[in-house]
Amino acid sequence: MVADMRTIGLVGGGVIGAGWAARFALAGYDVRIFDPDPEIGRKVDEVLANARRAQARLLGALLPEEGTIDIATSLTDAVARADFIQESLPENEALKQRVLREIEAAARPDVVIASSTSGLLPTRLQSAMAQPDRFVVGHPFNPVYLLPLVEVCGGSATSAATRDIAAALYAACGMQVLHVRVEIDGFIADRLLEALWREALWLVNDGVATTAEIDDAIRYGAGLRWSFMGTFLTYRLAGGEAGMRHFLAQFGPALQLPWTKLVACELTDELTDRIATQSDEQAAGISLRDYERKRDDCLVDVMTALRANDFAAGATVKAHAARLAAAQPARVPGAALLTAQVDTAWIDYNRHMTEWAYLKLFGDTTDVLLAQIGAGPDYVAGGHSFYSAETHLRHLGQARLGETVAVTTQVLGHDAKRLHIFHTMTGAGDAVIATVEQMLIHVDAKAGRAAPMLPGVAAAVARLATDHADLPRPAAAGRNIALPAG
Ligand SMILES: NC(=O)c1ccc[n+]([C@@H]2O[C@H](COP(=O)([O-])OP(=O)(O)OC[C@H]3O[C@@H](n4cnc5c(N)ncnc54)[C@H](O)[C@@H]3O)[C@@H](O)[C@H]2O)c1
Repeated sequence: MVADMRTIGLVGGGVIGAGWAARFALAGYDVRIFDPDPEIGRKVDEVLANARRAQARLLGALLPEEGTIDIATSLTDAVARADFIQESLPENEALKQRVLREIEAAARPDVVIASSTSGLLPTRLQSAMAQPDRFVVGHPFNPVYLLPLVEVCGGSATSAATRDIAAALYAACGMQVLHVRVEIDGFIADRLLEALWREALWLVNDGVATTAEIDDAIRYGAGLRWSFMGTFLTYRLAGGEAGMRHFLAQFGPALQLPWTKLVACELTDELTDRIATQSDEQAAGISLRDYERKRDDCLVDVMTALRANDFAAGATVKAHAARLAAAQPARVPGAALLTAQVDTAWIDYNRHMTEWAYLKLFGDTTDVLLAQIGAGPDYVAGGHSFYSAETHLRHLGQARLGETVAVTTQVLGHDAKRLHIFHTMTGAGDAVIATVEQMLIHVDAKAGRAAPMLPGVAAAVARLATDHADLPRPAAAGRNIALPAG
């Protein structure tokens, strides 16, 4: 979390404001949100429920203690005590300008005020403010609680400190900050999205394709590549060995035809009806919240796969998970290092948790332990790490879908280069489900060989071993696999 920031004031609680409420609360911040909509409480609760589910699948036990969300009775009630303010009002320049003035009159003078606008210019939005230097755009993407991207764009009066404070807060919430260096309508992302959107509307307008066919054209092809390579990297590869120059030479002439129109077609009543009808057919009666859960499940699965590749949004998630692991509070000896709810994706054909999921949870626990002894990502980046030399997994029970499992870890022994640990996973009623005994070897990764732990880590290991010295040694420690003799 960002030091000295505890409470976030939100103004506007629609799709984006409620998404921000969930993003901030799940990152551990307390939220006060104002929206005159009498349904605001229900809407925020529903979005939070979906967000909790998605973030738990993405980060599991690493999530910090959740912040509170309070529905404010007035704009002043939302912002007066806030350490940071995010405005998510309807996309209307005059309304935003007016409310921004109200916000700054009610807020503390040192607090940054950010706007979620999709494309209004920050210089215009801040123009009527008494302290325009503390205003910045922080443009998120729906669902705000899951998609990492946030575009940060200042206006001509925005101070560098304001940009930095907003960027630091967003990053602390697991987001990927893209600094928009040149202030333009629509920023970077919506410029691109709108170009595609205009073309899609023409294709429906001209009867070339339905809304479902256009979505298929994206989701079975380019959309899959976009999620981790974007446009330029994708086209570079499409140029083959000759790369981008060849790609430009081969497909450049088509740009002159041109295939695309890039000027919006008129949204006539007829076109609006056609799109709305086709979209209703496409949705096949599935409710908004159900579709949101499907979307969130797919997003989490994509980001989890990208995390395993340490690539694109996956690298953001991985780095965030590492930060959260390092920030885990110290635990009394024997307390769980990790708790998790058994996820649908971890279930096998027997309806029990599958083997790799055990290894994943025990591996995540080892990561928490390593972060706690100062051997987290910074240590690894510095060239040292622990490698698993031997792992012995025992299955003693079954973990079922939705069950909460907890993993405790005991240090059994250590020397300058080795760390001997024993993990125990328990489920409902504290029944032991599985154990893992592991020997970790400390390595100098560049030299590619075992090496003594650096002094800080060695001292932390020694302290942990002393803390664990009074815990009873697990009866199964040192067990090997063998058929009973005789
Ligand atoms: N929907 C998206 O995909 C998306 C993505 C990124 C950014 N944005 C931007 O976020 C902002 C909000 O968009 P949205 O999609 O959440 O809109 P929305 O219509 O879902 O929500 C707007 C909310 O503002 C509330 N509101 C209106 N006047 C208010 C006032 N005076 N004080 C407090 N609340 C007030 C409304 O009751 C409503 O709940 C816009 O600037 C939009 O451009 C939207």
